[in-house]
Amino acid sequence: MDGDTHVNGHDAGEPVDGDGTAAGTPRPGPSRKTVLRAALAAGIAVPVTMAAAPALARDKASGSAPLELTPSCDDGDDPTPPQTEGPYFKPNSPRRTSLIEAGTTGIRLTVTGYVFGLKCKPLANVLLDFWQADRRGAYDNVGYKMRGHQFTNAQGAFALTTVFPGLYPGRTRHIHVKLQAPGRPVLTTQLYFPNEPRNNTDPIFDSRLLMNVRDVGNTKEAEFDFVLNVPQ
Ligand SMILES: [Fe+2]
Repeated sequence: MDGDTHVNGHDAGEPVDGDGTAAGTPRPGPSRKTVLRAALAAGIAVPVTMAAAPALARDKASGSAPLELTPSCDDGDDPTPPQTEGPYFKPNSPRRTSLIEAGTTGIRLTVTGYVFGLKCKPLANVLLDFWQADRRGAYDNVGYKMRGHQFTNAQGAFALTTVFPGLYPGRTRHIHVKLQAPGRPVLTTQLYFPNEPRNNTDPIFDSRLLMNVRDVGNTKEAEFDFVLNVPQ
């Protein structure tokens, strides 16, 4: 599952290995990650004290019932959990941020987010290799439709333009991804959509990998932040 080889046929000098974590569940009030995201989006330097300070006080103070920690950058920095690769990964996907081609049909979906290391500092030049079913629930195992890789920018951000993946037998709705920070092992995982009936019956589903998704007109906008097992 967590491979140790190149995800793609990258040229020498491109990132080789990785790990990650995810955010997911909406939380009341601004979290540290929310602040980090806003600061990153605005190009504002994040104070080291904020980026590196333990952030468990909020959870500990929130009542008697212990909260299940979501593996994101505001709860102790657990890396994004790995998931099975499944049978449909193909190496050497094209480098592109949009999987939309001529003739691609389906509900437009964007997935944006950041990739952080263990101290919540953004990681640049992290490989993200996405693959998914098309709107009908079919994978392209001959060509590279609905497959593509990209790298995080200097702010640790990524953005994928694609379509809402279709369902296929035995699984809930999901997107596959492999991540690899420079010089680190590959993290293979999957991203999920909230309010999907099959989330309750798919044994692979993990709520820690739920994206935040909203409808915007006739499109969907999803957000997810990864935390890789990268010392900082
Ligand atoms: Fe799949």
